[in-house]
Amino acid sequence: MNKKIFVANWKSHKTVAESYDFISQLREMISTVNLDNKEIIIAPSFPSLMVCHDAIVKFLLPIKLAAQNISSFAEGAYTGEVNGKQIKEFADYVIIGHSERKRYYHETEGDVESKVKEAKDAGLTVIQCIQDQNSQIHGGADVVAYEPPNAISTFGVGEPENPDRIKEVFSKISEDTNEKKLLYGGSVDSKNIKSYAEIDKCSGFLIGGASLKPDSFIDLLSQW
Ligand code: PGA
Repeated sequence: MNKKIFVANWKSHKTVAESYDFISQLREMISTVNLDNKEIIIAPSFPSLMVCHDAIVKFLLPIKLAAQNISSFAEGAYTGEVNGKQIKEFADYVIIGHSERKRYYHETEGDVESKVKEAKDAGLTVIQCIQDQNSQIHGGADVVAYEPPNAISTFGVGEPENPDRIKEVFSKISEDTNEKKLLYGGSVDSKNIKSYAEIDKCSGFLIGGASLKPDSFIDLLSQW
């Protein structure tokens, strides 16, 4: 069965203690969710990756982890950076090219390309975010998340993209990227997630705001 992918992007939210609490609460609630048809990936901030990893192992939860960013260099003298080898100790995935990184940290397509290369060298699965149908999709990207900046709840107008428009964009980008999985992200929540059910190329969702509380995340997962 092709599982739907649900990526929880926590952005710069949650302390280590809060991250642990989230995983503990999720463990209590997750029995209400059908896990056979889903792949759940949580992307905490760097300091929380280790505690989330250990809690997932301890509680035997079928959840994978992603980092939200990666250094564009391998190990070395790059103050403040976290490289692919360091991420791979705790996570299997990495999100690269999010519009917040482009807008606030001036990340370029060249940076995205280097990051994808570093991620692949470290054995990470790449979730590359693109902002529109003309965005460059890098060969190393395994999963492509289409997130129009205006649709992001805290960024633009916070209006989720129309499902017909997502269909169009997915058809266009899958002409060249047939083997890659396609996700949609931007204001996805438990009330609107069903409206994307008819998009047959949609392999899942990148979820920000609605993934921050265990009950709203479970609510969203339960719709599928
Ligand atoms: P949102 O964020 O679900 O809060 O719109 C999505 C994202 O930016 O990844």
